[in-house]
Amino acid sequence: MLAFRLLTSVLVLAVSVLASGTPRIDKNKAALLVVDHQVGLFHMVKDINPSEYVNNIVAHAALGPLFNLPTVLTTSAETGPNGPLPKEILQLHPNSTIVRRNGEVNAWHSEEFRAAVRATGKTQIILAGITTDVCTTFLALSLVEEGFEVFANADASGTFNKAIADDANDRMRGAGVQVLSFFAVICELMGDWRSTPGAAQVLPFLDRFLPSYGYLARAHAAATNNGTILPGEAGLN
Ligand SMILES: *[C@@H]1O[C@H](CO)[C@@H](O)[C@H](O)[C@H]1NC(C)=O
Ligand SMILES: *[C@@H]1O[C@H](CO)[C@@H](O)[C@H](O)[C@H]1NC(C)=O
Repeated sequence: MLAFRLLTSVLVLAVSVLASGTPRIDKNKAALLVVDHQVGLFHMVKDINPSEYVNNIVAHAALGPLFNLPTVLTTSAETGPNGPLPKEILQLHPNSTIVRRNGEVNAWHSEEFRAAVRATGKTQIILAGITTDVCTTFLALSLVEEGFEVFANADASGTFNKAIADDANDRMRGAGVQVLSFFAVICELMGDWRSTPGAAQVLPFLDRFLPSYGYLARAHAAATNNGTILPGEAGLN
């Protein structure tokens, strides 16, 4: 009898996992959060080198205009040593809400921030922050508890060392957060190279932020005797 009950609960669990599946990003359901990517906090990031990391945080913020995602930016005590958001990020978001927190470590503890996130009307959240283990993780756990599907852009969160990042990412995964790379985020948002935004907008974006892919496209353009990759700097204008 016990064995039967156990078998039944295992089957019920398996069916519910299969039925719900792994959440996927849907650009129509997603909002973007930029969490404490402040110029002072930048100095604590040692698990990614600074040149790569500045690229990754600007790329994260640039997903907003590229995919027309409502974006909420937030900072923690920005008049102190944490400092403001980098100007590149601010320039990408002239009209997005910025919530300047005066004490709340977990952004979700700010009423103004909760209201701004809810005002997006979206059910999925893509986020990244400094540090991975505090600013990203604390908020991600709260967002899961609030019923959002949460996607952490691992390339745009940073912390003191890789072991701390790994533990933080494990903690988030344990709570049901999807932890994925910037490339996975952008490909899941796009879905199909023939969409809009698709190849015409995403290739120039990758050329700017993910040179390995940009140069693949350039090599192809050169080999096919057409030096054009694709015009513009989509997502940045
Ligand atoms: C920001 O808002 C202003 C005024 O409504 C508008 O002219 C401008 O195009 C907007 N910029 C972006 C990037 O949405
Ligand atoms: C080069 O490729 C681009 C993108 O596919 C295309 O728009 C353009 O017409 C091509 N130019 C030539 C000379 O084939």
